[in-house]
Formats: sequence, C-alpha cells, structure tokens
Amino acid sequence: MNTLPADSAVQQRWPWWPLLPLYPYGRRRTLVRELIPDQIWSLEQLQGVFYVAVPIRMTVVRLRQGLLLYAPLPPTGEVRAALAELEARYGPVLTIVLPTSSGLEHKLPLPALARAFPTSQVWVTPRQWSFPLQLPLSWLGFPAQRTRVLFEQGLPHPDELHWIPLGPLDLGLGTFMEAACLHRASGSLLVTDALVAISEEPPALFAADPSPLLFHARERGDDPLLDTPERRRRGWQRLVLFASYLRPEPLQVPGWRELLSGLLAPGVRERRAYFGLYPFRWQHHWQAEFRRLVPGEGSALLVAPVLERLVFPRCQAALLSWIRALAAHPELRWLVPAHYDAPVPCSPERLIALADALEARPWAPDNGSWAYLAGIDRALLRLGLVPNQPMQPGAIEPNPMDSDPSDADEERLRA
Ligand SMILES: [Fe+2]
Repeated sequence: MNTLPADSAVQQRWPWWPLLPLYPYGRRRTLVRELIPDQIWSLEQLQGVFYVAVPIRMTVVRLRQGLLLYAPLPPTGEVRAALAELEARYGPVLTIVLPTSSGLEHKLPLPALARAFPTSQVWVTPRQWSFPLQLPLSWLGFPAQRTRVLFEQGLPHPDELHWIPLGPLDLGLGTFMEAACLHRASGSLLVTDALVAISEEPPALFAADPSPLLFHARERGDDPLLDTPERRRRGWQRLVLFASYLRPEPLQVPGWRELLSGLLAPGVRERRAYFGLYPFRWQHHWQAEFRRLVPGEGSALLVAPVLERLVFPRCQAALLSWIRALAAHPELRWLVPAHYDAPVPCSPERLIALADALEARPWAPDNGSWAYLAGIDRALLRLGLVPNQPMQPGAIEPNPMDSDPSDADEERLRA
C-alpha cells in the first residue's frame, strides 16, 4: 500500500485516501510556476482515477498586503514550502477562496489548507452542498468562525479583484456555482471548471513521471512503456479524450481473451504497466477526434465536454451570458483555469468569439464521442435525479455585490 509523507495533512484528514484508485496514489508532486512575474503563481498537482490524470491547479495572487489562494490544493510539504517562500517575499496568506459549490476536487482540500493558515479568511461560493446529506459547513471541516460566503456576505479585496458569478444552476442533487476572479493589476482572469485550455503537448507536470502518458500511448497490453517525445504526445492526447468524454467513440474495449493475452508479458512485468493489463483498443481515427477538440498548435479554449453534456446541457444561456460578462473587462490579458494549461493569452474579443462559436454549433450533442455522456444524462433524467426543464433566467440569482458590465459596454466591445 502506498503511504503519504508522515507530516501530510492530507493523510491526517483522510486516512482512507491511499485506498482509492486516485492517481498518483499519495505521491503527490507539486509543480510551482511563476505565471505572471511577481504577481501570479501556479501550484499544480496531478489528480485522476487510475492513469486518467489531468493537472489541478491552485493559483496564488499577490495582493498589496499579502497573498490570496484560489481553488485549494492539499497542503502537502511541497505546497507549504512553496507558500512559505512566497509569504517571506510578499506577505502572509490573507485569503483562501473555494470558488465552486460542486467541484469536489477543490472542496476536499479546503479544511486542511485552512488549518495550515489559521489566520486566513476563508471565502466560499454560495450553495455549498454535500451528498447524500446536506451538512452544515462546519461539519464538512470548514472553519465556521472565519468562513464567509461570496456575494452574500461581501467580496474579498474588491479594490484589487473583480468577482463574476456563474450560477447557481440547479443540478438536481445539488447546485453548480463558480466564481471567476479578475486580478486587475495583471489582467489575469481566474476560473475554475467552466472553461479550460488544452494543447496538443503534455503539460510540464508529467516531465517528472510520464508513466500515465506512456501507458496510454500503447496499442496492446504487452507493449513496453517506451519513453519518446512522440509517445508522450500520443499518450497525452488519448488521455485528454478519456478525461473529456469518459468513453470517446474511437475507443473500443477488447474481449477477455485479448485483455488477458498481454498479462505478465516480458517488458510489462511491473506495477507501472499494470502487469500488462490494458483494457483499451484505439481505432485509427482517434487522432482526428482529438483534433476536433484541439484543432491547432496553440491552446484551444473550450468548455470541457463532460461539463457541457452533464452540467450545462440545459443551461447554455447562463453559460454564454457569463462568458460575455467576463469579456466585458478590457483589462483582461490572461486566462488561468484550475485545470490543464495556464496562463493562456486571452482578450475580450477571444471570449466573445468563443461565446459566438458555442452559440452557433449544436449544444450538448448526442452523437459520436458525446454518446456515452448523453447516455448518462438520459439515465439521470429518467431517474428524476436532474431537472428536465431548461433553466429560466429568473433562476439565476442576481448579484447585488458585483458590478456587472452594462449592455453598452458589451456593445462597445462587439463593435
Ligand atoms: Fe475542477
């Protein structure tokens, strides 16, 4: 069994963590990068199930008096060391923000991170929820005495940051809500899950251990995990298809005979290769499918298909309105999502073009690689677990604390 470092706050909080098939099984490495000199930093870890792992990011923003942490990561030794270095140069961690009501991967690390910075103020989006029981925030480990709710109880550092809400949107079992944060001084727009940027090359985070990429680059279970730049790229692109569609159309699952034929073959008798177990067969057009998602060499800005089909299938209007609200800020220069690439060069014009393109194409389709996600959505509808009615504009709460852009601003940008 894998174990976490003895000082890990993660292990203290979740002793069962190593029992889950969550890659990288407790050996979390953290990549620290300065995204905007002296202003914005990224702390990234890999997170996923088995070898389908994508980067998850906590963003550090330098404020006049100290630091703000956006989208929590578990406070491993590496994370605490990196933050201590930044604190020594720029001041203490003042604020921790949980910018989503539904993203468990961001919500679970909050209690431990808040304990690591006991004087920080914690802000969370409205409509936090837990399943199967709706528990009070303090029961979820949030520090009740120093936790405030964004938009409902004010906004942190409004003189330096601008906050733009998406939602709340009714998911049936709970609500989706995300708070984007624009750091005016650097022009960096921090978002969580609703927008991502994906490129054809694997993120730097895989450089230390490319095993997940090399695993998915193979055609059969008895292929050894050979390391070449081309194989890393191929593995990354297949991994993106997995993470985007769960079961992309070009992927077939072989029968038991083929599945077991690679077991314990020479060259794969190691845990890293799952001892030859490889339950995938990629059809030749898999790369064309990746190109539909990421057409060019630069980062493609998109709504993750798994969110489009399972979270926003009946909420397109709310999402487009949010993207256009983000675009109404002329100081926008960079997009920093909590997954995949960052920072991504961005502008109001690029976001407006994205919204227009999303509006012009079929939304949340059922065919091709979308079919598996569509099947899940249909099953949830059939069971009555998600609402059938499209979102009504009135269901989105107004945000009196936020100065949304005027129609005139949007018209000016469009012109
Ligand atoms: Fe997320």
